[in-house]
Amino acid sequence: MSLETASPSAQHRRHGSNAGQPLTRRDGVLKVTGRATYAADNHPEGMLYAVTAVSRIARGRVTSLNVAAAKAHPGVVEVLTPANRPPLAHDPDVKMPPFGFRVEVLQDDTVRYVNQPIALVIAETLEAATEGAALLNPQYDIDIARTGLESGERFGLAAVGVGAPPRTAHGDIEAGLAAATRVTEADYVTPQQFHNAMEPHAVVAEWDGDRVTLDMPNQALALSCASYAAYFGIPAENVLIRSPFLGGGFGSKAILNGPQILAILAARMLKRPVKLALTRTQMYGPVGHRGHTWQKLRIGTDNEGRLTALHHQALCATSSFDEFIEPAANASLPLYASPAILAEHEGLRLDIGTPGPMRAPGEASGSAALEVAMDEAAIACGMDPLEFRLANYAETEPGTGRPFSSKALRECYAEGAKRFGWSGRPLEPRRMRDENGFLVGWGMGTAVFHCPHFPAEARATLRADGTALVETAGADMGQGAWTALAQIAAEALGLDPDQVELHSGISSLPDGGIAGGSGHTASAGLALHNAGEDAIARLAEIATADPASPLFGAGNIGVAARSGRLHRHDDEGRSESYAEILARAGRAEVVGTAKAARDPAIAEAHAMFSHGAVFAEVKVDPDLGQVRVSRLVGAFAAGRIINPRLVRSQYFGGMIWGMSFALQEEAIADRRTGRIMNADLAEYHVPVNADVPSLDAILIPEDDPYVNPLGVKGVGEVGITGTVGAIANAVWHATGVRVRRFPIRIEDLLVDRT
Ligand code: MOS
Repeated sequence: MSLETASPSAQHRRHGSNAGQPLTRRDGVLKVTGRATYAADNHPEGMLYAVTAVSRIARGRVTSLNVAAAKAHPGVVEVLTPANRPPLAHDPDVKMPPFGFRVEVLQDDTVRYVNQPIALVIAETLEAATEGAALLNPQYDIDIARTGLESGERFGLAAVGVGAPPRTAHGDIEAGLAAATRVTEADYVTPQQFHNAMEPHAVVAEWDGDRVTLDMPNQALALSCASYAAYFGIPAENVLIRSPFLGGGFGSKAILNGPQILAILAARMLKRPVKLALTRTQMYGPVGHRGHTWQKLRIGTDNEGRLTALHHQALCATSSFDEFIEPAANASLPLYASPAILAEHEGLRLDIGTPGPMRAPGEASGSAALEVAMDEAAIACGMDPLEFRLANYAETEPGTGRPFSSKALRECYAEGAKRFGWSGRPLEPRRMRDENGFLVGWGMGTAVFHCPHFPAEARATLRADGTALVETAGADMGQGAWTALAQIAAEALGLDPDQVELHSGISSLPDGGIAGGSGHTASAGLALHNAGEDAIARLAEIATADPASPLFGAGNIGVAARSGRLHRHDDEGRSESYAEILARAGRAEVVGTAKAARDPAIAEAHAMFSHGAVFAEVKVDPDLGQVRVSRLVGAFAAGRIINPRLVRSQYFGGMIWGMSFALQEEAIADRRTGRIMNADLAEYHVPVNADVPSLDAILIPEDDPYVNPLGVKGVGEVGITGTVGAIANAVWHATGVRVRRFPIRIEDLLVDRT
């Protein structure tokens, strides 16, 4: 399968043309017919299979490996251990900027977490490699694993998230609390969660001298090329990453990990292509996860229900050897007006793999706690939760006073509440029942997510037949990036999306930036938009300088691109098609290029966020404590909507993830061994269709003239935030039981009410 086949198909034609149209995914047919090639589907000639042997202990040392037994197994070609692992050009214990993590690549015999690679077995077949790994029969010196709050070591953090300060204070928190007529204070716990993308991390590595081709799912192509180049001591341009399709990424495929580096190293050592695909269980360790948090919120309010203080503390787990944590407390910074806000983080070292970015890192865990705390504060004030949030609406960014680049959160509250039917909600819990006698509860939460913008580049080629090829090295993780990006390019080129072929997902193309932070459409989209405009300007130069053209003398700003033709502004009747212009000039094509980044002065002057409001209805069996989310309504404002079908689907994905966070997801560690006891999709629960009976996502119009010239904000992660709290608050409203530890379990609700 080549990338070319991701051209528009007949399905798209029925929908119309421009940005704003709900086109179906370009890659949809390829995916549902099984013709989309994922990394592990590649089988170059002479390929070997690599399997990692992983530690079964969380902390200690490997004292022996039966390498002889593994090597004696038929088909086994080589066994890599710390004893024979070839050198790397970069020290894996030194972090590479800007988003580097320390990785475990057999640098020594230390074990720092369960499922850490302790050897790599390479064989002619997957079966032989798997059996070889089993025959290694590792022996250990075992230290006691630190797996929880009591056993971990607390430490001060230098930074949280991507370089944010660990402590941010606006105003005097103690003065704010002292001024309050009421203070609500509570502790909240969020669990470890794992990405569990449908497609496990995989790589097929093939060397040619000092050049390497890597088929791998990857959210950050240029950055990864540079990092792999550093590990292998070769120039970045010698690394080619092909990542046409990803079966989900969620942040875990933006960062290098040990197993993939080892497979690439093995391919170089053995001079043959090597494939490695992690098993589901092996993903619980070396490829990141959402870290455990213990949070405390103190909310001070006055007699009118206005905040006087908002204090959010987060103790966040990380590994024993790296620093990434969920920057959970920062969720309290951008949302509610309060004269005093304090967000602070502390780290907790455990014997686990290092956490990493996972779908709304920080915002998801932090807003879960914040939105429940806000509900508790509203109830303490005797106020409706929506009324309470409106009373604390921030017109400008709390603390800094900067204007928002745009903010349509009021409209989200109003439209969401209307569609849900929020008015008339009883303040007291346990007041509503359905026809089957189930307790019914309604809850809400505010959604917020920041709008990062990654520098990106693109190329747009107008071809002799009047169609275009546009190129940027982005990644479509399943969100529909290819489709939306082609719509943006088509608009700039004055073409129908069907006439625009998009190449993406390969690192040799212009750098498309990072597919992360819900910023890919804006980042790569702006580069494509600018490249399209550049191509049109070059075409206009040719036409307006040609005495034989009806556009002669118009000057290139005197023409507009529409429906594959350039039109004179001063006389719309005078126009010429792209194909005619190129033919007369004897040109096969005209190429436009562009780089795009956010204007730092505009970014500095504004606070940039996507917003939303989520309303949840739950039904709880009063005898069994079983919770069902019967309805979820979200209303979101995220600037200009390029493709409403795909955007709604992103919001649905976020809201379902929120449901998962509230009621299902949790990785449970065995206290004795540190092993995750539910490291598979049978026992690690995520929602299935039957868990999601009714979802509604309302797209609130919003015009943002500052966030970027396209006016596009992120839609991927905002849907998780707000939803977790909305569901937990609905559970309280149904049952009167306040649960502050996620996920909410049946046993939390089985309280004696006699
Ligand atoms: Mo994401 S956690 O921005 O891929």
